Amino acid sequence: MTINTIMVIGAGQMGSGIAQVCAMAGYNVFLHDLQEEFVQKGIQSIEKLLARAVDKGRMTEEDRDDTLRQLHPSTSIQNAAEADLIIEAVVENMDVKTGIFKMLDDIAPKHAILASNTSSLPITEIAAVTNRPEKVIGMHFMNPVPVMKLVEIIRGLQTSDSVYEVIEAVTTKLNKVPVEVNDFPGFISNRILMPMINEAIFALYEGVAEPEAIDEIMKLGMNHPMGPLTLADFIGLDTCLYIMETLQEGFGDDKYRPCPLLRKYVKAGWLGKKTGKGFYTYS
Ligand code: CAA
Ligand code: NAD
Repeated sequence: MTINTIMVIGAGQMGSGIAQVCAMAGYNVFLHDLQEEFVQKGIQSIEKLLARAVDKGRMTEEDRDDTLRQLHPSTSIQNAAEADLIIEAVVENMDVKTGIFKMLDDIAPKHAILASNTSSLPITEIAAVTNRPEKVIGMHFMNPVPVMKLVEIIRGLQTSDSVYEVIEAVTTKLNKVPVEVNDFPGFISNRILMPMINEAIFALYEGVAEPEAIDEIMKLGMNHPMGPLTLADFIGLDTCLYIMETLQEGFGDDKYRPCPLLRKYVKAGWLGKKTGKGFYTYS
C-alpha cells in the first residue's frame, strides 16, 4: 500500500510537529483543527522552525519552500476523504478521540489507516468504535517531534501485520526510529517516564526541595537533558494528569495516584509552558 496523503488532526504542539516532519519527508499533508486560528498557529510554528533550519544551514530555501507547499490547512473533517493515513493528535481524552475516530471511519477511504498519537489511552478501545480495527494503530511521537528520533508503535489487539509494516516504513521515511510495543496503559514510554515525573511533583508537594533543586539533581546527577518538573511543564500538565489517571485506572494500582498538587495546578489552568505558568513561569 502506498501512502501519498497524510491528514493530521489537531494542530497543537504535537500535531504541528508531526505535520512538519511528514511534509519534510515529501508527503502531501492536511493539518486540521477545529478553528482556522488554531491551524494558523500550528503553521506559523512550523514556518519558524523551518526558517531556523535554513538560518543554521540545515535546510536549503528550496527545500523549505517545497515543505511549505506540501502543507494544506484544514478546518473541514471532510478532507479525510483524500487521506491514505490519518494521524490523530488532539487532547488526551477517550471520548473526544473515539468521537473523532467514528467520524473518520465514515469519511476516510476504505484503505486508509487511522493512527493515534495518544500518550497512554488503549488503542484497542479506540479501534473498537470503528469498522476497521485492523487498520487502527498507535503512532506515538515524542516531543519536540522534529528533534526526537523515537516513534513508539502500538499494536492494538486487532491491528494487522500489513498495517504495522506500512506504519514502520512511513516512520523510517520520516527519518525516525520505530519501536514496537503491545497495547497496555501508558505503553512503555509513559509507564516509566510519568511515575518519575509524578514522584518529582510529590517531592515538591511534601517540601523535600524547591523545583530548581529537584530539576538540577536529575539533570546533573542522572544526565537527564531536562529536570522532571521542566519536562512536565514542557509536555503540558493536563497531559501529565490524564496519563497518570489512565495508568491508575488501567492498572488499578495506587502507586499511579496523581499527586494532588498536579490536580490543583491543572484546575487552576496552570498547564505549563503552553499557558505561561506551571512549576515555572514563562514569558
Ligand atoms: N521544537 C523544535 N525544535 C526544538 C525545540 C522545539 N520545541 N526545542 C529545541 N529544539 C531544537 C533547537 O532548535 C536546537 O536545534 P538547532 O541547534 O539545530 O537549532 C536543538 O533542538 C537543541 O536545542 P537547544 O540547544 O535550544 O536546547 P537543548 O540542547 O536543551 O535541547 C531538547 C532541547 C531537545 C528539548 C532537550 O532539552 C531534550 O531532549 N529534552 C527532553 C525532551 C524529552 O524528554 N522529550 C520526551 C517527552 S515525553 C513525550 O514526548 C511522550 C509523551 O507522551 C508525553
Ligand atoms: P495541545 O493541547 O498542544 O493540542 C491539541 C490540539 O487539538 C489543539 O490545537 C486543539 O484545538 C485540537 N483539538 C481538540 N479537539 C479537537 C477536535 N475535536 N478536532 C480537531 N482538533 C481538536 O496538545 P498536544 O500536547 O499536542 O497533545 C496532543 C496529543 O498528543 C495528546 O493525545 C497527547 O497525549 C499526545 N502527546 C503529547 C505529548 C506532549 O509532550 N505534549 C507527547 C506525545 C504525545
